[in-house]
Amino acid sequence: MAQMEDKIVLVTGAARGIGLAVAERMIEAGARVMLSDIDAEAGAAQARRLGERAAFQVHDVTVASQWDTVLEDLEQRWGGLDVTVNNAGIAQMGDIESCTPAQWQKTLEINLTAVMTGTQKSIPKIKARGGGAIVNIASIEGLIGEQMAMAYNAAKGGVRLFSKSAAIHCARSGYNIRVNCVCPGFIETAMVTDAVGSLGAEMAQQFQQALLARVPMGRLGHPREIANAVLFLASDDASFVTGSDLVVDGGHTAC
Ligand SMILES: NC(=O)c1ccc[n+]([C@@H]2O[C@H](COP(=O)([O-])OP(=O)(O)OC[C@H]3O[C@@H](n4cnc5c(N)ncnc54)[C@H](O)[C@@H]3O)[C@@H](O)[C@H]2O)c1
Repeated sequence: MAQMEDKIVLVTGAARGIGLAVAERMIEAGARVMLSDIDAEAGAAQARRLGERAAFQVHDVTVASQWDTVLEDLEQRWGGLDVTVNNAGIAQMGDIESCTPAQWQKTLEINLTAVMTGTQKSIPKIKARGGGAIVNIASIEGLIGEQMAMAYNAAKGGVRLFSKSAAIHCARSGYNIRVNCVCPGFIETAMVTDAVGSLGAEMAQQFQQALLARVPMGRLGHPREIANAVLFLASDDASFVTGSDLVVDGGHTAC
């Protein structure tokens, strides 16, 4: 039997990048997957491409009522929810002096508060199906500081720790819901390309060189390498894993 046979999975921010790779991997493993994203056009196109075990909902993760709509749709369409992957996120570059209040607020709202909302709203739905898993996409930027990613550091550190609290709560309440984080290193997606590009040509080149020098494996990761880690944590193969951070970074944080 495939790892995720008959499982119903929600992946946020799934129109591209890591979220899309997670959706693809889950479908390969037998799941039915609701892709959600603010990008309606790309999200709908990807869901069509993935076939009958995929669906798409326009969903801004910062709007609580849209969570209710997506979860209600899952209930009607497939009978509930087994796994939520809180993946949607943004990266805005800024250090402690240059980060504006608006950048700080937006980063925290999407990358931290919305992940908490998604975790909170998923728990009763997953509980109603007898248990499952929540996988929150944090980052190595939640483990170590990056001068130009001050707000992002704060948000991703927050995701790691609130996820541990939620994991303890679910385990002690006997809910059979595991809550874990994946902490990717630098992965080849539009997020990285755009963020590096925003630095300007000279600084972008310096940043990229310095970045690769810090990764013992000497390359960026591929979205599928993160999707494999998410699949493990979402599946019964990780039946005794909760409250953990799975670091997937080519050795970046090992040195
Ligand atoms: N790429 C990396 O190197 C890297 C490293 C560590 C962690 N991450 C994390 O992985 C996740 C995915 O990153 P990615 O590289 O695939 O990024 P990406 O920019 O390629 O994709 C992010 C997706 O999220 C969607 N999104 C943005 N704001 C949203 C909102 N408010 N509601 C719903 N959807 C929204 C975007 O439309 C996009 O489709 C993020 O949480 C990111 O912080 C990425």
